[in-house]
Amino acid sequence: MHSLSPDVFARRRRRLIDEVGEDGAALVVGPPPRNRSNDTDYPYRPSSDVLYLTGFGEPEAVVLLIPGHDDGDFALFVPDRDPNYEQWEGRRAGPEGAKEKYGADQAYNLSELDEKLPELLAGRSTLFYSLGSDPAMDRRVIPWIRDKRHRRNQVSSIPGQVADLRDLLYPQRLVKDEEELVLIRRACEISSEAHILAMKYCRPGMYEYELQALIEYHFRRNGGCAPAYNSIVGAGDNATILHYTDNHSQIDPGDIVLIDAGCEYQYYAGDITRSFPASGSFTPAQRDLYQAVLDIQEAALAEINGNTTVEAIRDLIARRMTEALLNLGVLNGDPEELIEEKAFKKYYPHGFGHPLGVDVHDVGHLRLSEDDDLPLVAGMVLTLEPGIYIPADDESVPEEMRGVGIRIEDDLLVTPDGCENLTQSCPKSVEELEAIVGTGEASALNL
Ligand code: GLY
Ligand code: MN
Ligand code: MN
Repeated sequence: MHSLSPDVFARRRRRLIDEVGEDGAALVVGPPPRNRSNDTDYPYRPSSDVLYLTGFGEPEAVVLLIPGHDDGDFALFVPDRDPNYEQWEGRRAGPEGAKEKYGADQAYNLSELDEKLPELLAGRSTLFYSLGSDPAMDRRVIPWIRDKRHRRNQVSSIPGQVADLRDLLYPQRLVKDEEELVLIRRACEISSEAHILAMKYCRPGMYEYELQALIEYHFRRNGGCAPAYNSIVGAGDNATILHYTDNHSQIDPGDIVLIDAGCEYQYYAGDITRSFPASGSFTPAQRDLYQAVLDIQEAALAEINGNTTVEAIRDLIARRMTEALLNLGVLNGDPEELIEEKAFKKYYPHGFGHPLGVDVHDVGHLRLSEDDDLPLVAGMVLTLEPGIYIPADDESVPEEMRGVGIRIEDDLLVTPDGCENLTQSCPKSVEELEAIVGTGEASALNL
């Protein structure tokens, strides 16, 4: 099992501290556990920003970076130790553990937050905080700021100005360090193996959830924390629902099965989609649609490098997608006009990908869709996931194509001259898929 060393977190904090400067402070607040029902919570997933800066995984942790503070610039507030809690629910690090294991210069119990925070922020004018990213966190932070404003004429130590922490932290999170690339590679590898397992053991007559179970079994038994997002297993026209997660339909022999599933390994996400014929053979119409998506994906992959932009890739895909839909008889009309109108959006309604990292849709506001024009730089990891989805009731499209959904998604590390496909080991050519589907030894899984 890999894990990141304390040095990695210290280096990341140092970069942020240098940017915040001695007049400011950075605050990151982890969310509370979320209730699932009655007295049962969802498994706790720490805040990605807390994880990125500290590796600390307990609920509601508060990270405060106070550059140049006399007692050290990294303060961590952690849940109070409580023997009763620890007997029932699990161990807590407490302030001592926060210093020893997580490198905090100053560590406090969460119960001390309201008293300590103003003291630690004394004399600083700007608080860097991701206002609006989580309403529950804002409900805690806004009163501190409001308190300051109401007491404008009194001596108050809470900074009066709030700046967006994401503007400093997200460019840093966007470009991956060597250490986290090890974890992303492993997340991608486990994800790829899980897709191969599903391909091998897919049999018409199975239920979608059986393939989901196989995939998630593989994640967990290889040390994955959880699926990085709810696994999508859609057969037949369920594959045309972009984020279908019911996964309870039976798989018919003529179906394409679209699986979009990724492992979260040491809090880093993989994100792969494959679409394959349940019976092991594409129909001619399915094959044409599949090959069209694959050709577009490969054309875009060849253009991804550390010297291009999101807009260039998006334009290339828009053009290729329009041409493909015209060739398939799905769209009709003048290519230039269709590109201008973005007519392809009816059949390809999503962006071509997104950054990948501690979150599957990493660094939230940097989606690669619509109006963003982000330069691609070496060290970014992003997905490339074109798709074509033909609604089952679309009478303008040849009948044999209706109800078919195809998406092909790989995870790419941008390099100066190109990109490395981190999910290369997951089969995707027509020949590879037809050769592998259904070949798993039935007896191995009691099928
Ligand atoms: N799995 C969600 C996505 O591909 O963006
Ligand atoms: Mn994705
Ligand atoms: Mn995906």
